[in-house]
Amino acid sequence: MEEAYLNWPRLIEEALADWGSVGVRGEFDNVVLSGMGGSGIIGDVVKLLALGRLSTPVEVVKSHVIPSYVSEKTLFIAVSYSGNTHETITATLRALEKGARVAVVTSGGVLARVAAEKRLPLFKTPSGLLPRVSFPHMLTGVLSILDSSGLSIAGRREVEEAGRALESGRQGIAGEASEVARFAYSSDLLVVATHSPLEALAVRAKSEFNENSKTIVKVDVAPEWMHNDIVGYEKPLFTSYRAIAFYDPEDKVGRSLVEFMVEEYKGHGRPVLTIPLKGASLLGKVLYAALLFGLASVKLAGLRGVDPSATVSIGRYKKFASSVFEYKA
Ligand code: F6R
Repeated sequence: MEEAYLNWPRLIEEALADWGSVGVRGEFDNVVLSGMGGSGIIGDVVKLLALGRLSTPVEVVKSHVIPSYVSEKTLFIAVSYSGNTHETITATLRALEKGARVAVVTSGGVLARVAAEKRLPLFKTPSGLLPRVSFPHMLTGVLSILDSSGLSIAGRREVEEAGRALESGRQGIAGEASEVARFAYSSDLLVVATHSPLEALAVRAKSEFNENSKTIVKVDVAPEWMHNDIVGYEKPLFTSYRAIAFYDPEDKVGRSLVEFMVEEYKGHGRPVLTIPLKGASLLGKVLYAALLFGLASVKLAGLRGVDPSATVSIGRYKKFASSVFEYKA
């Protein structure tokens, strides 16, 4: 599975070949990104990238419930690797009922069929991968749709550059990932700590350690952490945890906040691994963090002797979910 992660520069190139092929015309009051798990994280990351660049509000929906403001002035992007995720299908059908302009990113399934029937713009991601491994392809797909819809948050050249940096850095990142995995291995509970606005990357790291390494992870985000979680660390029920703390070296405030967190964890006698994010742009840092934690989580699975690709309990839930969500697509 490590090979699949190391293939990310190639996946970016493949997605770039379709750059500009899909867009939605119109004037939009808001952008809503819908998806769950390894597909839903694309929304979180796009919201992060949009923060400093887009004046149109961006919302992420990881649910079957959509905001009441969704209207014909909404650009609604449904992201589902399989195209068969009940929450995403339900949300998308509701958005269509409200007249939203919908674009779809998927490898197939129900959503690809709905897109074909309703002539919705579709950015196809290759089948045969795991959703979490398809991350850079789906992300490039959404960035391309936004760019072609007059809501650019990253241009083609920026994505190309970030892809090239990943290509030249990936072996080094694999080495760092081994260190992260070894550090995480001696921990009963892993804490992933960062500063706002990078919470999407901590959530991504958490999900990777959940799904690939089969382990529970807590996410701590400053400065909100300083207003509640911090007190919980005074007298926790369990004490065998370790923290991985990462920050954007170009964000002075963020870095200071993480340094404060690190001192708190250490003050409680807990080991901390501190990681400054590498990358020439925010997109570069996103890809660096996603690859680092993806590879680390696969390596941790190896140390623990578990199969990184299997997600048996998600399958159990999806079977159950088919009796919960009722839609006609
Ligand atoms: C990630 C993973 C899950 C799925 C999620 C939604 O690799 O397997 O987190 O991404 O269950 O499914 P899709 O992505 O098919 O919409």
